[in-house]
Amino acid sequence: MKIAFFDSGIGGLSVLHHAMKVLPHEQFIFFADEDNVPYGTKTTEQVFQYVSDAFSFLMTKDVKAIVVACNTATSVAVRELRHQYKIPIIGMEPAAKKALDMDTQRNRVLVIATPITVRGHKIKELIEKYDTESLVDLLAMPDLVEFAEHMDFSSPAVEEYIRRQFAPYDFSKYANLVLGCTHFNYFKETLRRILPDHVRFVDGNEGTIRELIRQLDYRKGLEYLPQTVEYYYSGKAVTEPHELQRIDAYLDQLERVYTII
Ligand code: DGL
Repeated sequence: MKIAFFDSGIGGLSVLHHAMKVLPHEQFIFFADEDNVPYGTKTTEQVFQYVSDAFSFLMTKDVKAIVVACNTATSVAVRELRHQYKIPIIGMEPAAKKALDMDTQRNRVLVIATPITVRGHKIKELIEKYDTESLVDLLAMPDLVEFAEHMDFSSPAVEEYIRRQFAPYDFSKYANLVLGCTHFNYFKETLRRILPDHVRFVDGNEGTIRELIRQLDYRKGLEYLPQTVEYYYSGKAVTEPHELQRIDAYLDQLERVYTII
């Protein structure tokens, strides 16, 4: 059986890209809701409906687990989905706890995410629980989702946007930047250029795949098959060469930025 990865768009490829490295003998389905991206600037009701529709589709594919490779969809829908479906559903939350745990010097942490994630109750709960010294700041950067969907990771417009959003922050006080949206990994080269060297990137990709493996292993669900990936844009199989080339170009960018910390 296959493992599904779901995102509003091509951001979730950053999670799949990591999974392809650590699970070379699994078969994957990647679902990008390209008809409805972006999610982060819509209403929670709209996003809930999109995610429900995507899950109904993925269930027809007889998958053994679904990774919600989208912080925004996790924030809106994962609780209800877990009640509805019996298979493991692995969600993603901005890795603020990881960032706090990593830094014994107690420097500040900046979490960048979508507006829905930043406003959501899930991140509030996370911060109440772990940010006991009020070190975490939240910043919505929705335009990065649009730039990523247009495969623009480093134009002057991207750089200008990031610099403008970061202007109010004194980065000498920050040790970690949490990439709280899976679309943001694509920008690591540009972010690295803009930020001082001591600021490190933290994302939830590794932890998410570790949790996927833990849950599958517990159910004896890990397999030893030739690795394959099927791609879907909002329920339509991606088969056209130019569309597959687009996906390859995203995977190439992810490979380029994979080791940037
Ligand atoms: N990639 C998604 C996330 O991780 C959402 C981006 C969007 O559609 O706004 O939050």
